[in-house]
Amino acid sequence: DWTPESIITQAVERIRAQVGHERALAAVSGGVDSSVAAALVQRAIGDRLIAVFVDTGLLRQGEREQVEAAFRHTLGANLIVVDAAETFLKALKGITDPEEKRRIIGETFIRVFEQEARRLGTIRFLVQGTIYPDVVESRAPDRAHAQRIKTHHNVGGLPPDLSFELVEPLRYLFKDEVRRVGEALGLPPALVWRQPFPGPGLAVRCLGEITAERLSRLRAADAIFTTELERAGLLQQRLGEDESAAVAQAFAVLLPVQSVGVMGDQRTYQDVVALRAVTTQDFMTAHWARLPADLLERVANRIVNEVDGINRVVYDITSKPPATIEWE
Ligand code: XMP
Repeated sequence: DWTPESIITQAVERIRAQVGHERALAAVSGGVDSSVAAALVQRAIGDRLIAVFVDTGLLRQGEREQVEAAFRHTLGANLIVVDAAETFLKALKGITDPEEKRRIIGETFIRVFEQEARRLGTIRFLVQGTIYPDVVESRAPDRAHAQRIKTHHNVGGLPPDLSFELVEPLRYLFKDEVRRVGEALGLPPALVWRQPFPGPGLAVRCLGEITAERLSRLRAADAIFTTELERAGLLQQRLGEDESAAVAQAFAVLLPVQSVGVMGDQRTYQDVVALRAVTTQDFMTAHWARLPADLLERVANRIVNEVDGINRVVYDITSKPPATIEWE
C-alpha cells in the first residue's frame, strides 16, 4: 500500500532503468513539482542529475537562497544557478500588457535555459514535474486557464536539435502525494507546502512597467506582508490539508498609480501598494481574507515607513469571482 517511501523506491528503480548511466537535466523553478521531480531523480542518479535554477530577477525575497539551500546544502545536488535578471529586465523593458509579459517571460526563459543546456553539452534526458492532474487537464483543451498556468515552466518549445527524452517521475501522483514524497526526500516543508506562485513571478504583480527599482519596492512590501501574516500564524502551513480559515495565498501588488501623501511636513507623491489575501480550497473560487484590522494597520505602517517610494497601502476586498486572485 501507499507510503511516500514505497513511491520513492519504485520511482528510483524506474528512473534508474530509464536513464541508465546517462545524464539528466532539470529546470528547477522553486515550485513544488519541479523541485520534487528533481529531488527524486537526484536520489536515483546522484550527480548525473544537473539541476538548473534560472534567477529571473522576478522572484520573491529569499526565494533563490531557499532553493540553493535545499538543493545544494540539504540534498547535496548538482545545482547550477543562472543569474538572468538583466536579460529578463531588458526583454521586459517598456512592456505593460499582462499577456505580453507572460509571453516574453516564457520565451526568455526558454532562451536562457537553451543556452545553459548547450553549454553543458549533450544531455539525453530532461526531467519534467508533470503531475497527474496536468496529464488529465492537457486532454481538456477548453480549460484555457489551466493551460495558461502551465505554459511557463514546462520547458516545451526547445529547438529540435536540442531534443530530450522526458523523465516524468510524478506522472501518476496527485499534488498532496507529491508534497509527501518531497518531505520524505528531505526537502524543507516551507518549499514543499508553499503557496502557489505564478510562473511569470513578480512581473504580473508589478502592474505597468517593470523596472529594477519597482521590483525591489514590490519585493520589500511583499516580504513585510507575508512575514507579518506568518508571525500572526494566519498563513496556512499545509496547503489543502484542511478547511482552515487561514490564508491560502497572500501577496502584494504594486499599482501603476501614484497618490498624494504627507510625511512630516512634506507633501509626497508616490506609489500605491495593494495587499491581496484569500482563503480558498482549490483556487478556482476564493474569498478575500477577513484579516484583523490591527494586523493590516501594522503592515501598512511598516510598508510606508520601510519601503522607499510607497506612501499608500490598500486592501483588496473582492472575492473570486468576479475578481481573479492575481491582478493580471
Ligand atoms: P487567478 O488569478 O486566475 O489565479 O484567480 C488562480 C491561481 O493561479 C495562479 N496563477 C498563475 N500561475 N502562471 C502560473 O503558474 C500564471 O500565469 C498564473 N496566473 C495565475 C494564481 O497565483 C492563483 O494561485
